[in-house]
Amino acid sequence: TIYPDQHVASVNVAQRISALIRSKQQQNKMAVLGLATGATPVRVYAELVRMHREEGLSFRNVITFNLDEYYPMQPTAAQSYVTFMNENLFEHIDIKRENVHIPDGTLPLEEIHEYCLEYERKIEALGGLDLQILGIGRTGHIGFNEPGSAPNSGTRLVTLDDLTRRDASRDFGGKENVPRKAITMGIGTIFKAREIILMAWSGKKAPIIKKAVEGEMSSDVPATYLQLSDNVEFVLDVDAASEL
Ligand code: GLP
Repeated sequence: TIYPDQHVASVNVAQRISALIRSKQQQNKMAVLGLATGATPVRVYAELVRMHREEGLSFRNVITFNLDEYYPMQPTAAQSYVTFMNENLFEHIDIKRENVHIPDGTLPLEEIHEYCLEYERKIEALGGLDLQILGIGRTGHIGFNEPGSAPNSGTRLVTLDDLTRRDASRDFGGKENVPRKAITMGIGTIFKAREIILMAWSGKKAPIIKKAVEGEMSSDVPATYLQLSDNVEFVLDVDAASEL
């Protein structure tokens, strides 16, 4: 779906999330959301915060799982995805802290494998993700599933691509400070969500959107695997869609 600008698109995505949350509330059920970081979803979160403040949208029945976190990473660090989520969403809404899940960037290496399996089990025990929102990196990554990721991959420790680290260098004051690794949900994990919305804004994303949507499916561009799913919608502004 192509929108005139990212603001209109983000409001639309936020409305769909709030409709899901309210419909689950009416059924006395939890809404299980997969969330993303980066600049792309910021306006969606801002709109959800506005709906909470002005329209009484409650998040008491919401459970969230974030896609990824840098490794190693202290949750209190300015660049952590924990800080990002707190500042952009969680500290402004009434979600219960125990319902928030973000991969732990502080674990010793030998504990990560079991931790990742447990992350998957927690999602499955809740009946899976109702909705996963995604951005896309210029390498074609979703979450931090960099080129080479397998379509059935699960939550795991990965090595970041050089381009991804360059793109993150501004946040870290230089590429040398960007962690080399991350914990990310896998492509297989993302695929199990009942609905997936990938958002992209601006001409900077146009070449990778063209590859993801129209390119040959390949692990060179992990987002091309989304072509396999019937439950995916690309939500774009006109500039991100300009090469389609
Ligand atoms: C990071 C995140 C991704 C995100 C991507 C794009 O690498 N791990 O989940 O989609 O950046 O970031 P942005 O939305 O800032 O363009």
